[in-house]
Amino acid sequence: MGNIQLGVNIDHVATLRRVRGGTTSYPDILEMANEAVLGGAQQITIHLREDRRHIQLEDLQVLSKSLKVPINLEMAVTEAMIRIAKKYKPSWCCLVPEKRQELTTEGGLNVIKQRRAIFHAVNRLQSLGIEISLFVDPDLDMIDMSAKLGAEAVELHTGTWVAAKGTNKEKQWKRLVRAATRAHDLGLRVHAGHGLDYQHTKVIRKLPHLVEVNIGHSLVCYALKIGLRKSVSEMKKCLKP
Ligand code: PXP
Repeated sequence: MGNIQLGVNIDHVATLRRVRGGTTSYPDILEMANEAVLGGAQQITIHLREDRRHIQLEDLQVLSKSLKVPINLEMAVTEAMIRIAKKYKPSWCCLVPEKRQELTTEGGLNVIKQRRAIFHAVNRLQSLGIEISLFVDPDLDMIDMSAKLGAEAVELHTGTWVAAKGTNKEKQWKRLVRAATRAHDLGLRVHAGHGLDYQHTKVIRKLPHLVEVNIGHSLVCYALKIGLRKSVSEMKKCLKP
């Protein structure tokens, strides 16, 4: 088990600004991203959603200009988002499904159904030097197709495992292990994310071949009590063997 990289998703810092209609200048996204970096974040993750419910285009602009760590841009597979990614050239793009009504990204990308559009997007973004991860449910057919589509990584959706109770918890864990093993065998980097808190992060670090996690909501919630820098540094401890 090597060093697992921590990407901090700061969408919900922007949510707090948005709940007042975006009329406040606080919380400051760059300031909070820098706090996360001081806490040990090795990457900042943001999801620029079509409905702009939290992160705004200006946030991407500001972060692209000033941030000292790589940006991982979560985005839907749309022409508009590909154009934005081409302009700002984040280090990574994580392709995700997006539904307007959902509270958060509910499931993984159906890379089989959408293979043509995804293949096209992957090629265009990679030609600019952007690396691609595909956010997928931990199912073998999704992993196999992700490899065929030429992505560098899969981000395994951990939400179902996090929410699972009783005997289903072990079943969902085994599903993640199988998916991670297959991804690694096919030459894909293994990332994971969604719903991870301190408790689940202490377990997910044992997932075979895991090299990166992206965590947002829990960190912003813990930050209310201890500040973002500390919540991130505590999360880093959870990733240590
Ligand atoms: N990874 C992906 C692809 C996501 O869509 C999200 C949620 O925006 C996360 C990670 C972070 O999830 P959470 O906020 O539950 O930690």
